[in-house]
Amino acid sequence: MKNRKTAQTTLSGKKIEDWDFAGADTSYLTHGIHKYPARMIPQIANRLIKVYSKEDDTILDPFCGSGTVLVESLLLRRNSVGNDINPLAVLLTKVKSTPIEFRKLNFNMTDFLSGINDGFKTNKLIEPPKDILPNLLHWFREDVACRLDFILNEINKVKNDDIKDFLKVVFSKTVFDVSNIDHRSSRFIRILQPDELSKFKPNTFAVFSKNTFDSLKMMNEFVREIEKLGLKRIPTVRITKNDARKLPFKDNEFDCSITSPPYGEEKNTIGYARWSKLSVAWLKMNHGSMNKAEKNALGSMVNKDVVGRLKELPSKTTINVLYELAKTDEERVIDALPFFFDYLKTFEEVYRIVKDGAYYCVVVGDRMIRKRSLDMEKVTVELGNAAGFRHVNSFFRKIPMKMIPWKTPTGETISRESIVIFQKV
Ligand SMILES: C[S@@+](CC[C@H](N)C(=O)[O-])C[C@H]1O[C@@H](n2cnc3c(N)ncnc32)[C@H](O)[C@@H]1O
Repeated sequence: MKNRKTAQTTLSGKKIEDWDFAGADTSYLTHGIHKYPARMIPQIANRLIKVYSKEDDTILDPFCGSGTVLVESLLLRRNSVGNDINPLAVLLTKVKSTPIEFRKLNFNMTDFLSGINDGFKTNKLIEPPKDILPNLLHWFREDVACRLDFILNEINKVKNDDIKDFLKVVFSKTVFDVSNIDHRSSRFIRILQPDELSKFKPNTFAVFSKNTFDSLKMMNEFVREIEKLGLKRIPTVRITKNDARKLPFKDNEFDCSITSPPYGEEKNTIGYARWSKLSVAWLKMNHGSMNKAEKNALGSMVNKDVVGRLKELPSKTTINVLYELAKTDEERVIDALPFFFDYLKTFEEVYRIVKDGAYYCVVVGDRMIRKRSLDMEKVTVELGNAAGFRHVNSFFRKIPMKMIPWKTPTGETISRESIVIFQKV
């Protein structure tokens, strides 16, 4: 058993004092282009990449979310592959890790925006689109829905695919900003109260313009940062949309893997699919894929017989907590348990596709199940070991209060993150 208090060292034995990164700017370059729940902070990705991989390596993030690991890999001269089942995550990752030189591509953003503004003046925006969501006008004012529809049509006319995707990300951010969602609530699903809703009159075009220029500034800074590296060859970035339990990669393909997986079933922890649903609907990325994202999210396939398999799970920590809980609330155990079996499968899959000697770094938040706290560091170590990995080290990060915007549907928040380092031996 390692001494967890003194475990804060790197491979070379050099001490790392601080994993909290309190007060650090976590939205520099393209990291700030779009929100994403439980985003890994770039400082952690950066440090892990530097310590556990070398230049020109290929790094895999099997749960890439909005692409933090891929952006940092690029900046640190590593190739990267990202994977996620959420189509919005795949789009965000692509855009955040693709440097776009607007000037060289002869694309003038001011002209593009003026074209939209002129279009608003000359077109009658009276019909909200019918094919986005059945309850569209629950989530958006009618005038907002009409304007969003017009903007999206203009984006879809853009010929260059990278620019089009960049504008789709700006559009997605705008969808959040101008929707009726109560942004003060930590639960995405709630809309503003009726009295507030009657006063809520967002200027859709102004919001879209501001988001465009803010994102453009971040993209230009990203491009300049890459230029400064003076690379002969830009590292490769690939993104796939698969279930992390079964990835389309060869055995022993990757030099390193760094990720932050979900820390529980979406229903009771963070609902990535639910959080993304408005953007996914507008961008029509839901040709079956959002259903797939919801169905294939870790822990989604609930099966009543699972309780009988509790003892088979190679995690004493999980068994102890769920065994006690089963005495009073078996339903909750039925909901929670499949996640852990799925989580184990992802360790087995990553073990298969990384090279011998490669490191696998897992950043995971603690969780509560019916007021019982579950130490996800211990769970992660137990499941990683069961899949064949050797546990090398664990670091801990206190999440600063202001960075915990998320409450789960049961009202719980994550306040500690563990950074668990494994090696394939
Ligand atoms: C903690 S988030 C990753 C955040 C990411 N590190 C970032 O910085 O934005 C976990 C991700 O796992 C994804 N996910 C959940 N189940 C999955 C599965 N079975 N296969 C692949 N991705 C999955 C979710 O869609 C979500 O984007």
